[in-house]
Amino acid sequence: MYRTTTCGDLRIADVNKEVTLAGWVQKVRDKGFMIWIDLRDRYGITQLILDEARTDKAIFEQAKTLGREFVIQVKGTVIEREAKNKHIATGEIEILVHELSVLNKAKLPPFTIEDETDGGDELRMKYRYLDIRRNPVKENLIFRHKVAMEVRKYMSDNGFIEVETPYLIKSTPEGARDFVVPSRMNEGQFYALPQSPQTFKQLLMVGGMDKYFQIVKCFRDEDLRADRQPEFTQIDCEMAFVEQDDVLNAFEGLTRHLLKEIKGIDVAEFPRMTYDEAMKKYGNDKPDIRFGMEFGELNDLAQNKGFAVFDAQELVVGIAVPNCAHYSRKEIDALIEFVKRPQIGATGLVWVKCNDDGTFKSSVDKFFSETDLAAWAERLNAKTGDLLLILAGETDKTRSRLSVLRMEMAKNLGLRKPDEFAPLWVVDFPLLEWDEESKRYHAMHHPFTSPKKEEIPMLATHPGKVKANAYDLVLNGNEIGGGSIRIHDKATQKMMFDYLGFTEEQAENQFGFLMNAFEFGAPPHGGIAFGLDRLVAILGGQETIRDFIAFPKNNSGRDVMIDAPAFIEEAQLKELNIKLDLPLKK
Ligand code: AMO
Repeated sequence: MYRTTTCGDLRIADVNKEVTLAGWVQKVRDKGFMIWIDLRDRYGITQLILDEARTDKAIFEQAKTLGREFVIQVKGTVIEREAKNKHIATGEIEILVHELSVLNKAKLPPFTIEDETDGGDELRMKYRYLDIRRNPVKENLIFRHKVAMEVRKYMSDNGFIEVETPYLIKSTPEGARDFVVPSRMNEGQFYALPQSPQTFKQLLMVGGMDKYFQIVKCFRDEDLRADRQPEFTQIDCEMAFVEQDDVLNAFEGLTRHLLKEIKGIDVAEFPRMTYDEAMKKYGNDKPDIRFGMEFGELNDLAQNKGFAVFDAQELVVGIAVPNCAHYSRKEIDALIEFVKRPQIGATGLVWVKCNDDGTFKSSVDKFFSETDLAAWAERLNAKTGDLLLILAGETDKTRSRLSVLRMEMAKNLGLRKPDEFAPLWVVDFPLLEWDEESKRYHAMHHPFTSPKKEEIPMLATHPGKVKANAYDLVLNGNEIGGGSIRIHDKATQKMMFDYLGFTEEQAENQFGFLMNAFEFGAPPHGGIAFGLDRLVAILGGQETIRDFIAFPKNNSGRDVMIDAPAFIEEAQLKELNIKLDLPLKK
């Protein structure tokens, strides 16, 4: 037996027990006549002690040769520590070692393997297996496991069946580029890795599975960010004979279950907000509703008063930032610089201080009276002591700029608390989205999403205004999941492809299999997918999903540990009948 117990188990009640432990040497403290070793495994750290008086000489000498991260096995007696350590669970005991064997030596690790490490990001990614030995990374992986287990439990308890769908498929249009895989047996042909199991889960509904789920890898070749990886995991789901509310209720249940089981939180409110309302109130389709600062539109109060900057604009809109009326000129200038940065693109920012004595001071005092400013403050639900920040311009752009400013202020004021959770549904998304680059409409969710029935006629006249039976789950300002009620008849699906600019031949080639299936008794159906990585990160109080993935890619989509992607042998290319128009590199 390699071990009778782990490095996290032993307590004061175990004193005098004979035990065998195995693990990694985290630290050796050699005082000459006495040696202490911190032995680490997944479960914790146990202190080992060897001393000249009580330990066999050969073993004592051997202990002096141990280096960091050596893998060792020890046998010894549990004794009470003289100097107790309250910070660790095993801090009251230590092991008086009487046998020691080195199971494997270790090179000096490139960074310290402790909670606080000196290793930079790239280095820790290159030696990810060493990083995983550190508590913060290890705990994140264990946390992810717990979330995934609770998901499976909840879904299975609610009658969902987990079905695996293939990874070597044909393109599924979720809006990103596909990763493709050449087929050796079918010369010149390629599989695509799924961006999601979308079409397969719909076919499972045609197959009568009724309630499907899957914790599944998805692949998208898109620009990477903190909340995006080229391969990521979805909690994917589809249900037959349902309306939008049935899907929302099922997944509200899952979200509540996870918050309860994982965080011990009972969510009181789970609001549902239309896309239009979210844009109007927060300038964003994934609003963080944990703090106020809702938008107030000021056109009727602020236009036609002689301030040309406002008069000419489509929208004048502001927020009241709590308790910031004391901001100095310098602090306000920094905010103005912030909104003027090219990434945000505002031309300026109007501010109003709601002073504690009830007076107002603003950057536009020349144009507006105290009464005007008081009316703005009231519209923005401001209290004395608040700072109003106001932007003007074209509606969509101005909303989105103010939304960035709102989030920045919330971050600076510490209002985005990682241990506070406020989920909401955003519903009634537009069906289509105008794409400037290609000068045509794209499906906002995906082409299988059904338009609201009563709005179908508007497709011909105002396509951008048509709403879909599509919804997102938003948690603390992050899009955790999205889904829709699907089209389930061939004629409507054909019409959608037509609106999206597919020729009949293209539609048939790419999605003929789905439209055919619709002709064999497809039930009404709908579903949703949550991003598991994002959900886990947010529940863990963070927003970088990489920290919750065992072996993530870096920002250029590379795995720096295994050094992928990589060039392949010429022979392999030949076999696949691929000719590269590039010099072959080794
Ligand atoms: P959607 O494209 O909205 O919907 O994806 C669902 C959820 O997956 C997560 N997600 C990602 N997470 C990490 N890295 C990425 N690159 C990434 N891309 C998406 C997000 C997102 O909300 N088939 C539909 C679902 C449906 O209609 O049922 C779909 O994939 O959290």
